[in-house]
Amino acid sequence: MKRHLISAADLTRDDALLVLDTAEEMARVADRPIKKLPTLRGRTVVNLFFEDSTRTRISFEAAAKRLSADVINFSAKGSSVSKGESLKDTALTLEAMGADAVVIRHHSSGAPHRLAGSGWINASVVNAGDGTHEHPTQALLDALTMRRHLSAPGRDLAGRRITIVGDVLHSRVARSNVLLLTTLGAEVTLVAPPTLLPIGVEQWPCTVSYDLDAVLTTSDAVMMLRVQRERMNAAFFPTEREYARRYGLDGLRMAALPEHAIVMHPGPMNRGMEITAEVADSPRCTAVEQVANGVSTRMAVLYLLLGGSEPALAGARPEPAAAEPATVSAAGSDPTEPARPAGAPNATAARTEESK
Ligand code: CP
Repeated sequence: MKRHLISAADLTRDDALLVLDTAEEMARVADRPIKKLPTLRGRTVVNLFFEDSTRTRISFEAAAKRLSADVINFSAKGSSVSKGESLKDTALTLEAMGADAVVIRHHSSGAPHRLAGSGWINASVVNAGDGTHEHPTQALLDALTMRRHLSAPGRDLAGRRITIVGDVLHSRVARSNVLLLTTLGAEVTLVAPPTLLPIGVEQWPCTVSYDLDAVLTTSDAVMMLRVQRERMNAAFFPTEREYARRYGLDGLRMAALPEHAIVMHPGPMNRGMEITAEVADSPRCTAVEQVANGVSTRMAVLYLLLGGSEPALAGARPEPAAAEPATVSAAGSDPTEPARPAGAPNATAARTEESK
């Protein structure tokens, strides 16, 4: 893995599989009475949010805390940013606090890239959504969700047909998903009105359609995108009713999907716009599952970026048993089983070392 995670394009197929496999290991922590590992004890993770968030912010905080990191939550609202403080001076302040990882969400595309390459901080930078550019950890948690429903542990998404529908123009989720899903072997189709497709989309590694009904019957997953009214400074479609009629997912359209297909939404949802309440609340909709997968995915990302060179659950017993001598257990095995000695890394550890 690279030191920073700015774009889904930063991940090779092996990197992406490593994150997903590690996330599966991390997910097992969530099933325990004590959902905590000592892995990042003594490390500091700063959540630097210049733009509103519910899911991403909470899940990064939960992820860092479950790994026993110290967590500093910074929100631009109520900070010295409102007095005109620059990103540079904010970054220098974080550096002085000893940040090991900075998770940044920013309204400007490119802000995480700037922070990572600035030399202002030594921390690993994780892009938690920048403008209309990228949201790589969202794509990773979406891939984890798809893999659970459509593939198998340890495998990629080769041959799976994923349809992404709606406001692609303003969607960092769509961009990161197209990049990651194609890295994992999936075939991606974007469906949107021409006004909500970015210039240059024909260069993206995917197919484009304007007809949702034409692609539903061959889709393994349909990902509905939020119509981002707050980023719209012009009329991109005649009326909301017209948009919902042509590009919204309702019960009738959901019934046209293959039986195994899932409906995804990164949230927050505009119920009645891109998705009806009937679909959002149906068992086929994975929106809540995606949020849960976000915690284990972000645990995996923080663990790997902050130097995880052993299986995530090495010697894995929840606190307070963490003080026992470090041992290495087989990846994918029950962490309460007898552990192999340190120095006998399993496949996950080996792959981590290789890809550094
Ligand atoms: N999916 C997503 O990024 O949601 P939040 O804006 O609530 O973080």
